[in-house]
Amino acid sequence: MDERVESILIPRTQIAARIREMGQQITREIGPLVGGPEAGPLVMMPVLTGAMVFAADLIRHIPVQMTIEPVTVSSYPGKATSSQGASIEGGVPADLGGKHVLVVDDILDSGRTLGLLRRVIEAQRPASVRIAVLLAKEKAEGRDEEVVADYAGFEIEDNFVVGYGLDYDGYYRNLPDIGVLRDPGPPSSTPTSPAQGHAS
Ligand code: IMP
Ligand code: MG
Repeated sequence: MDERVESILIPRTQIAARIREMGQQITREIGPLVGGPEAGPLVMMPVLTGAMVFAADLIRHIPVQMTIEPVTVSSYPGKATSSQGASIEGGVPADLGGKHVLVVDDILDSGRTLGLLRRVIEAQRPASVRIAVLLAKEKAEGRDEEVVADYAGFEIEDNFVVGYGLDYDGYYRNLPDIGVLRDPGPPSSTPTSPAQGHAS
């Protein structure tokens, strides 16, 4: 493990087992609604970049007809470790009307990312919008935007975590386990414009 990672919070074996269960539950609940000549495919919408690893594993436990429509949302400019607001880059696909959409993200924190996405998707009148996250942070004082995930792999304490797709300043996404970062340091003192932020 990298020296800046203090401890492993969720080992890879536990992640894999939980994702298998989540896939089975999603298949049971959404599977009957999609596919066939009447209903369209399930639209899986991973939020780049953080959900890349989770989505890649999750979809292989959901054997239903699906398309994959990634979206890019920026929220953490540079070294910041708390939400700086969210913005969608390049928008979402424009043909979601009547479809079942499953938004997949790595972590639910302030709720701004998924709250924004849900609003933008719902404006197109899809048949349904559900949210799957690998991690949901406990927020004693509530989230900035009240978002509830339909599927959440693990509830975790309000620490900054990395690995399995989650980054700090763009790094650590390739760690196979989820770990807690050792003293991430203060957010960068120079304000970063949204254009310089990086994808979630
Ligand atoms: P929210 O908009 O505050 O809910 O944050 C969602 C995004 O922030 C996620 O998609 C992550 O990219 C990022 N994020 C939130 N908490 C963490 C963390 O502990 N580690 C790494 N990224 C995080
Ligand atoms: Mg991120």
